[in-house]
Amino acid sequence: MDERGKGKKRLIVVSNRLPVVISKDGEEWTIEPGSGGLVTALAPVMKRNRGLWIGWPGSGGEVPFDALFERFGRERGYGLRGVSITDDEVEKYYQGFSNETLWPLFHDLLGHCSFNRENWLTYRQVNRHFAEAVAAAATSEDLIWIHDYQLILTGEHLKEMGVHQPLAFFLHIPFPSLDLFRRLPWKQEIIRGMMSYDHIGFQTLRDRRNFVGCVTALLPEVEVISRQRQFTILRYGERTVRAGHFAISIDYAEFNEAARSREVAEAAWYLHENLEGKKLVLGIDRLDYTKGIPERFLGFERALEKYPDLRRRISLLQVVVPSRTLVPEYQILKETLDQTAGRINARFSEPGWVPILYVFRSLDRTQLLAHYRTSEIALITPLRDGMNLVAKEYCASAVDLNNVLILSEFAGAADRMGSDALLVNPYDVEGMADAVWRAFNMPAQERRGRMERLQADLRRNDVHHWVQRFLGTMFEEGLR
Ligand code: UDP
Ligand code: G6P
Repeated sequence: MDERGKGKKRLIVVSNRLPVVISKDGEEWTIEPGSGGLVTALAPVMKRNRGLWIGWPGSGGEVPFDALFERFGRERGYGLRGVSITDDEVEKYYQGFSNETLWPLFHDLLGHCSFNRENWLTYRQVNRHFAEAVAAAATSEDLIWIHDYQLILTGEHLKEMGVHQPLAFFLHIPFPSLDLFRRLPWKQEIIRGMMSYDHIGFQTLRDRRNFVGCVTALLPEVEVISRQRQFTILRYGERTVRAGHFAISIDYAEFNEAARSREVAEAAWYLHENLEGKKLVLGIDRLDYTKGIPERFLGFERALEKYPDLRRRISLLQVVVPSRTLVPEYQILKETLDQTAGRINARFSEPGWVPILYVFRSLDRTQLLAHYRTSEIALITPLRDGMNLVAKEYCASAVDLNNVLILSEFAGAADRMGSDALLVNPYDVEGMADAVWRAFNMPAQERRGRMERLQADLRRNDVHHWVQRFLGTMFEEGLR
């Protein structure tokens, strides 16, 4: 272990992907922080204590990573370190075990899971590569915070390598019930891996309870010492482990302010101008079967069928951001979406009106905010979601307070937003149709009241608050 910097607390964050966007403009390479909430929230903390972020920079043989990371460190005040992964490892660790086994299993979608031993072995091996990179960089004074399902075993490898300081882990996706988790052939290894962290954060109380249920059933030597509002304390041999829940959020002020900008207002105006006074129902998701997009299309179709007054007066604008397109289940989903949108449009379209406007690409920041700001209704219907930040961003960007959020009861976000959003079960086509009709007809005063309350909660519980709460609760000694 590197002994540099003794006596000073530094935060080391580890995630599968490094949170940067690398691009080439002519001959010039550029590196920028990504736009995610996590990087925005952690940047000030990382800068203050000259932190280090370790992760996979992506593939790209010709990219001058070292020079770019060095420049990033100088300009942004915290460091980056890349973990390289071979193409074969990407296939088995990332596409395979992470995204064909853990992802669907943890989202309660057993039918989408495949269980493959080669993928499992490669997952362990790549988690070891990550641990090696962390161990090589860490001093005994550093606070180490590992993120998400791709890296569950990294902590255990670190402990084996003699890294003894407290390790924290945050799971961004749901944790399944025991009934589902037991189907995993490597359930013991995964649950032990999780228990090698000293502090484990989940998105919701349900996830935390599911985890404690799995641990106590699968590892009889684990004892629950106490259950507190914020976390459960578990004894595991000589160690104590804290499992808490901390709902991740967004940078509310940044979204709200940017959504008020002239640039966004103009882009929003153009979006609606092209739609000649029709109301917009917005869906924005990565291409992912957990997001319930085909189910949403069916709910919208039912709304048009059941409430003919909606025809010509409403369109569903569905943005699907390409994601994990090498995983077969994602390719199948893409075909299903193309077919379902095509079928519904062929059934209902009239001159001057298309019911589903379906876009398969990502949006730049201005367009994203314009879509949020101008859509009267958001229809966010994941079958299961750790949190769903789109729901929060939509509300933060609703600067005219004239918008309605329809939200799946199975999104982590529903815990706090459920009383002011219209909650739906994404498997209930009829219920989704009724919610669209209700949102369409909701009086302006009610829309305003609901949105004001949603925004007030987001303003208080933003992502900066989340970082402080996690670090403050988990690492009692805190950071500088
Ligand atoms: N997003 C994006 N580009 C787009 C559309 C959305 O980067 O074109 C972002 C969006 O702002 C949000 C994130 O993608 O921060 C999606 O997060 P969410 O929690 O909703 O779902 P996830 O994709 O993490 O499952
Ligand atoms: C979810 C996961 C993240 C992941 C992101 C994008 O938010 O919780 O860990 O990074 O999806 O997926 P990708 O596979 O492109 O990294």
